[in-house]
Amino acid sequence: MNLRVKALVGGALLALTVAACGGEGAGGGTEESAPPEDRTIGVSMPTQTSERWIADGDSVREQLEELGYQVDLQYAGDDIPTQSQQVDQMITQGADVLIIAAIDGTALSSQLQAAADADIPVIAYDRLIRDSENVDFYVSFDNYRVGVAQAEALLTGLGLLTADGQPGEATGPFNVELFAGSLDDNNAHFFFDGAMDTLQPFIDDGSLAVKSGQAEIEQVAILRWQQETAQRRMEDLLTSSYNDGSRVDGVLSPYDGLSRGIITALQNAGYGAAASPMSVVTGQDAEIASVKLIDDGVQNSTIFKDTRLLAEQAVAAAEAFLAGEEPEANDTETYENGVKVVPSYLLPVETVYADDIAPLLVDSGYYTAEEVAAGQTD
Ligand code: BGC
Repeated sequence: MNLRVKALVGGALLALTVAACGGEGAGGGTEESAPPEDRTIGVSMPTQTSERWIADGDSVREQLEELGYQVDLQYAGDDIPTQSQQVDQMITQGADVLIIAAIDGTALSSQLQAAADADIPVIAYDRLIRDSENVDFYVSFDNYRVGVAQAEALLTGLGLLTADGQPGEATGPFNVELFAGSLDDNNAHFFFDGAMDTLQPFIDDGSLAVKSGQAEIEQVAILRWQQETAQRRMEDLLTSSYNDGSRVDGVLSPYDGLSRGIITALQNAGYGAAASPMSVVTGQDAEIASVKLIDDGVQNSTIFKDTRLLAEQAVAAAEAFLAGEEPEANDTETYENGVKVVPSYLLPVETVYADDIAPLLVDSGYYTAEEVAAGQTD
């Protein structure tokens, strides 16, 4: 097990990593020089109900295994106690590094304390773990930018902006409704803030109206990012605010799963037919079912976050820790977790409209053209 010792030498504070045998670590040998096959990386993922996390888990596992590491990959079924238990078990079974995508960003403090006590570095994967000093590194995307890109897609879809961000021909006023992710996910706040900072001027000048009046994140958040909950909320909105013949012109949706629930509610209310076109609905994650909906002209757009690249950063960070080094960060300011700023590596994101599916998703090998046409992966 890695033992990280901070030593004051000659007046200078040096972070010195010392390898020490941690007893019954996985594979027996865990010195800094131990070969990859003697190292176990615990990978804790939130749920398999969303394709995105399956892709993340697969990418992280494949890349670690290619380098020779043992991988303990667990999914927690979006259940907080299950995730806590799985992480506890990874620690007692001698994991050398933990990579964790938390369900509830504030619920893992005692697990992280146990990891710190056992000198196990913790990498927060895509979702920041909050309220703990024992988060060593964070790999994610530019989450604020995701929200900005979603809002820009909504504005472009409505014609208030052109594709290159200039004022569009349309003037509105357009009716829009807003959705946010799970309040216990730090990212949900970044997405919503980015989106609202972009939409607010249009709300202020009257070209957008949130007809339901629900514009606070607490009013529009969807617990655990559940598709069914989003569908129900959209149905309720249609009944309560659009029973006077008015239309929902656009919906800010922060995640493809929610977008599909929202689209189902809209379709059930007659949207998407010739007389009543589908509302402009945004998304995130480029999930295959939604990519097909975009290809078919039903969903407006999604935000592509290449999980292969995120996995690569998580693996690079794990390797750095195993070598006794600090991983390379490209942001050391943004992600304050309530206790400290967590050094981060953030990746860029891309907006995908129908025309971008081939160049961004197919040509890069993320999906095949057949998978896009079928709306499912093999
Ligand atoms: C991720 C998003 C994802 C959402 C729901 C967020 O933490 O950053 O990519 O859409 O969780 O799974």
